[in-house]
Formats: sequence, structure tokens, C-alpha cells
Amino acid sequence: MTQPNKKTVQALQWTGALLKVLDQRQLPEALVYDDYHDAAGVTEAITTMRVRGAPAIGIAAAYGVALSAIQHCAEDPIHWQQKVTADIAMLAKSRPTAVNLFWALDQMKSLLKQPLTNPPAAFIARSEKIHADDIAANTKMGELGANLLTGAKGVMTHCNTGALATGGYGTALGVIRSATQRQPLNVYAGETRPWLQGARLTVWELAQDGIPVTLLADSAAAWLMKSGAIDWIIVGADRIAANGDTANKIGTYSLAVLAKQHGVKVMVVAPTTTIDWAIENGSRIEIEQRNQNELLPACYIKEGSLVSAWNPVFDVTPAELISAIVTERGVVLKPTEQGMGDLNHDIR
Ligand code: MRU
Repeated sequence: MTQPNKKTVQALQWTGALLKVLDQRQLPEALVYDDYHDAAGVTEAITTMRVRGAPAIGIAAAYGVALSAIQHCAEDPIHWQQKVTADIAMLAKSRPTAVNLFWALDQMKSLLKQPLTNPPAAFIARSEKIHADDIAANTKMGELGANLLTGAKGVMTHCNTGALATGGYGTALGVIRSATQRQPLNVYAGETRPWLQGARLTVWELAQDGIPVTLLADSAAAWLMKSGAIDWIIVGADRIAANGDTANKIGTYSLAVLAKQHGVKVMVVAPTTTIDWAIENGSRIEIEQRNQNELLPACYIKEGSLVSAWNPVFDVTPAELISAIVTERGVVLKPTEQGMGDLNHDIR
């Protein structure tokens, strides 16, 4: 099985006592890690997108709860559980769409119900396990997804779904990493406006690992597909409903519609921690709206401006436009509620 390259960049580094977070807002110009000692800091790092990407958000939040347990057990051994509970509630408000955040917080919260002889050690161990399990899931998905790419010549990805967005290998980018070790593959990455995860993060991350990649404007995707250069669109996910409808970075839905027109297949790659079994379809997924100033040219950011911006940062691709959902538990072709449910009943 493919193993993560030890030199691949890491979004998160746990030292045993504090969390180092790579400030992705500064990439690719600067590689800067900041130290976080408490849950409030980690909440801010997630909200401001220093760390982003659904699995990485969940892992960072888990470490945030571990930091909370370390701090409050030392400061207030009587009421530490209430304080950790309050920190979990704060972390849950950091971003709304990625279900990995809520999954990871539920995992950490469950420790509060257990008798623990050394609570900080137990919280640290659980967050380290969430991190390690994500890397293991990524490498497994890399293999399963690469199997589907046999004979493919070109793929296009969207947003950043690599080591920067996960525990350390990648979902869609993990599949691309694994596939390029097996066969020649032309890799295209869309810019991913407005935050430019593709232009700033994906092409940088691939180049760091020696994988050639071609960047294109999001608006060039249709023309690229029309040229016949693309066999698969490969994307990650922030939340997958029980029927396979998939919320991912804004623009994913457009790519799926274009893919249908051009006979291109669509692969969604996500660990099962990204599946929200509680919602039957994508209509119930909350779509994050971010500040209009992330999109507006500076000259319009002023009181009384007549120009405003609409800035939803995710969209939902209906399952019928998806050819395959790849998880660490297996591949669901042409996803439906039944196909998704058959994936594995015991993960519900
Ligand atoms: O707003 P972001 O950068 O957190 O959005 C990230 C995405 O949409 C990714 O495609 C998704 O989280 C999958 S990451 C493995």
C-alpha cells in the first residue's frame, strides 16, 4: 500500500503539549506555523481559515478539546468538565458545513461521560487517534480511488483536498498522489475562487511532492472538458448526505453539471467521518456564507457602497451527477441511499 511521503507538508503538528497550525492564508509565499495552547485559539484558527479542509478542521478541533482538558484540569480540578463542555460548544460554532467538525467533537465529548484516571492523557490519546485514523483512511482511499483511474489520461481537481486539508495525505489529492505513482496522469487544478485553494495550495502541495500539475481558471473547465483531456473530475467533500448528495467547495456542482455534458466521470473521495447519516439528502446541509469582503474588490469595501457580494463557499452536488464515492470502507458506484447504506451498517 502507498505510504505518505514523510516530507509532505503537514497542516497540523501535535507536540504533546501544544498544537502547531500551519497558517494556510500565507501560502505559498510563507510557511509559518503558529502555536496554540487553548480551545479559543484553535476556534479562531478554524474560523479564519488558518486551518481549513473538512478532515483537518475536525482533527484541529479534537486537539482543541485536548488543550481545553489540559488547561481546565490544571486550573479548576472541580469544574473542569463544565469548562471543557463550554469549549466544545465554542469550537462547534467555528464553521458550519464540514460534518467532520461535529463528528470529532462528539468523539471528544463522549470522554466526558467516562470515568478517567488521567483525563488530559485520555483526551490527548483520543485526538491523536482521530488524527492517525484519518491518515490511514486517506491512504486506503488513495488505493481504492487509483484503482478506478486505470487507463485514465487526465484528471481535474477542485479546491485543496491534500495533506493541507486532512491528517496528512489527502482525499481527492490522495487518490491523485497514489495514481501518479502507478501511471502517467495529466493533473489539472482549478483556481477555486474566491479563496484560491487550488491556485495557492493544491498546485504548491503537488509541486512540493514532485507531481507536475496544470492550473486553470475555474471558468476554463468547460473548455478543457470539451477538449477531451479529462477522464475524471476528482473532488473531496465537506458533508455527504445518506443518499450520496455531496456538499463541497463552491464550484463543484458546476463541474459535475459540465462533466455530464461532456461524458466525464465524477469521483468524490471522503472518509466515512464526512458522511452525515442523520440527513437523508443534501437539502438539509447548511451552506456557509462567508464575509462579502473575501470577494469584493477593495474599492467597494466602504460604507454606502452600492456593490455587495454573494459569497456561499460550498454547494451541493446531487448524487445522480456522481459516478463514484470512494471511502476507506469501500467504493459506492452511482450512489443511492441503498448503495450508501450498504457501505457499512455498523458505522451509523
Ligand atoms: O473552505 P475550505 O477550504 O475549508 O473548503 C475545503 C473543501 O471544500 C474541500 O474540498 C473539502 O473539505 C474536502 S478536504 C479533504
